[in-house]
Amino acid sequence: MPTTLWSSRFVFIMAAVGSAVGLGNIWKFPYITGENGGGAFVLVYLACIAIIGLPLMMSEVMLGRRGRKSPIGTMAAVANDEGRSKQWVGVGIMATLAAFIILSFYSVIAGWTMPYILSALKGEFSDISADNSGALFGQLLASPGQLLVWHSAFMVMTVLVSAGGVRHGLERAVTKLMPALFVLLLILVGYASTTGHFAQTLTFLFKPDFTALTAEGVLTALGHAFFTLSLASGAMMAYGAYLPQHVSIARTAVVVAIMDTGVALLAGLAIFPIVFANGLAAGEGPGLIFVTLPVAFGQMPGGGFFATLFFVLLLFAAWTSSISMLESLVSYLNEKGISRVKAAIGGGIAAWLLGITTVLSLNVWSEVTPLAMFSRFESKTLFDLYDYLTANIMMPLGALFIALFVGWKMQATHSRTELGAWHKVWFPIVRYLTPLALLTVFAFNIWGLAGLEAAWHWLTASGQG
Ligand code: PHE
Repeated sequence: MPTTLWSSRFVFIMAAVGSAVGLGNIWKFPYITGENGGGAFVLVYLACIAIIGLPLMMSEVMLGRRGRKSPIGTMAAVANDEGRSKQWVGVGIMATLAAFIILSFYSVIAGWTMPYILSALKGEFSDISADNSGALFGQLLASPGQLLVWHSAFMVMTVLVSAGGVRHGLERAVTKLMPALFVLLLILVGYASTTGHFAQTLTFLFKPDFTALTAEGVLTALGHAFFTLSLASGAMMAYGAYLPQHVSIARTAVVVAIMDTGVALLAGLAIFPIVFANGLAAGEGPGLIFVTLPVAFGQMPGGGFFATLFFVLLLFAAWTSSISMLESLVSYLNEKGISRVKAAIGGGIAAWLLGITTVLSLNVWSEVTPLAMFSRFESKTLFDLYDYLTANIMMPLGALFIALFVGWKMQATHSRTELGAWHKVWFPIVRYLTPLALLTVFAFNIWGLAGLEAAWHWLTASGQG
């Protein structure tokens, strides 16, 4: 048993929401939605959250609470409990690795918020044009030195909390900051609704146009469902390990998923009206909010103040997420007898080093595309590849194995004790629907529609045989 448990269900919810709500919701969701044509993508994403993400979150929290160890330790312990192969520990290892890779580039992006806080304080956004805002962002990306400074600062922040033990630092921070972020987003949406492009935004986000959706878009939506809920990365397993036994896992997971999705949708509602009103491109890419929002703040009364507040809150949201990424590794090293302080510093330095390659891929190495021999990765830089590898490959794969484990390898009586009445709904979903949905997306992505048909024939044929 770990020595400290969360002090209440509320605190766990806040920590899990802190982990879930981050750059994924406010930075990534709007830009990938823009890149993938809006409505249909959003619909697939919501479906992925509901039928794959949510049941998986319950599974991970449950595994964490049963194992009461680091994700690696938990997978080993639970597999052992169930009399299953030691190989299942691989799920924990892959999750820990995914979290580590994510942390390396997440820290670089989170670092962007800091120069934006300074610019906001200096009033640099007041009446800024879309062109100038784009140029400002371009200057930041073009400077490896600046990016490195902010990346380093953010990593230090992450290591500091992680070294002190997640509970103390985190509990206080999330309970105040998360609600503040929510309110600020509402204010932004309120402002965005006055731009005259709100109706267009509603159409863009909620009227599905399936011709705009590609197979890769579906995989991106799926991957993002994991990323945004902090799944298949050990974070929820690690936090589940500190969850008191009496708390309802299912109800808690539902609350976390709703809050997370709510924040993402609010971010979309806040950003796209401004994008449309200023003639910016929805498919702008990773810079979307950093180019768009300053324009909005620049026109708003009290914009300097709101801009400062917004980027500060975004920084905190990213911070409460990055801490949970490092937790998988730190809790594992801690089990191996390395002190939390040393583990956090060591892990932080390693992720910081890897992060430097992301810094460089935004400028000096922007033409370096290591996997250009594959058409799908033709124009992908190192940063793009880290993102792709984690969200589109490691996480869906990890998720598949977790679903298979809880659905087929774990005794149903065990999961029933953990999940109570919800077990009835959850079990058939993770046993059949989740793996099938995941395999479908994989097949679709690798072989296209023809592959899907082939897989269907294979399935129906083996069903008869
Ligand atoms: N969920 C976080 C976000 O949306 C990212 C994250 C991924 C956190 C994996 C922990 C683990 O920003």
